[in-house]
Amino acid sequence: MIVVIDGPAGSGKSSTALAVAQKLKIQYLDSGALYRAATHLFLKSEESVPLFFETLYKSHFSFYFEDEFKVFVDDLDLTQIIRTPEISSKVSTVAAMAEVREFVNKLMHKAIPSDIYIADGRDLGTAVFPNAECKFFMVANPSTRAKRRHLELLAKGIDISYQEVYDDIQHRDKIDSTREKDPLKQAEDAVLIDTSEYSFDEQVEIIAGHVREAIQQNKL
Ligand code: DC
Repeated sequence: MIVVIDGPAGSGKSSTALAVAQKLKIQYLDSGALYRAATHLFLKSEESVPLFFETLYKSHFSFYFEDEFKVFVDDLDLTQIIRTPEISSKVSTVAAMAEVREFVNKLMHKAIPSDIYIADGRDLGTAVFPNAECKFFMVANPSTRAKRRHLELLAKGIDISYQEVYDDIQHRDKIDSTREKDPLKQAEDAVLIDTSEYSFDEQVEIIAGHVREAIQQNKL
């Protein structure tokens, strides 16, 4: 029972999915946060891939949604730390590893049967949940996405320039959309939403409207 939003970095998927979850009182799953938590372990393993895999398979990941998406590894709350530029700059490389994708996909499949979820990511509609009841693909032009991400990071007290954010987004988009395993791509049956054309409230209402309709038709 799942609604998915895929799209490139900074397209507004996470904040929109969160707002829809709050509005409709459904669960929210941030798949990027799970890749970010795995990246934390990669950095802790000093970027040694064998050591990283050993650590990853031994670690216990848990997550839940309560106002925000919280993620823990071995009971350590990583919710804030996974947003640092250091993690952002490595996460696409880690997420391109097939073993990591399999690990994260299993976590997500285990979580969702119990409730109605809205989840955001890159490959949810194409690879992870191809039978999702509602699928959206969110895009926005690169400068709009970089401006949004920059403001978000400044609000969190992270000192970074607009140019660094812009370059990071370009770099990640390239890795995410050209990787071999499940690249970022619009699913054929996904509704395309260009968020450069809408206000935040409008895009939340468009998606919430589709989801309400699916709930009424008992699809969810
Ligand atoms: O949404 P985000 O920026 O927090 O995602 C972090 C990275 O994780 C992103 O650069 C690509 C990767 N990712 C992915 O490959 N597949 C997903 N379903 C979600 C995120």
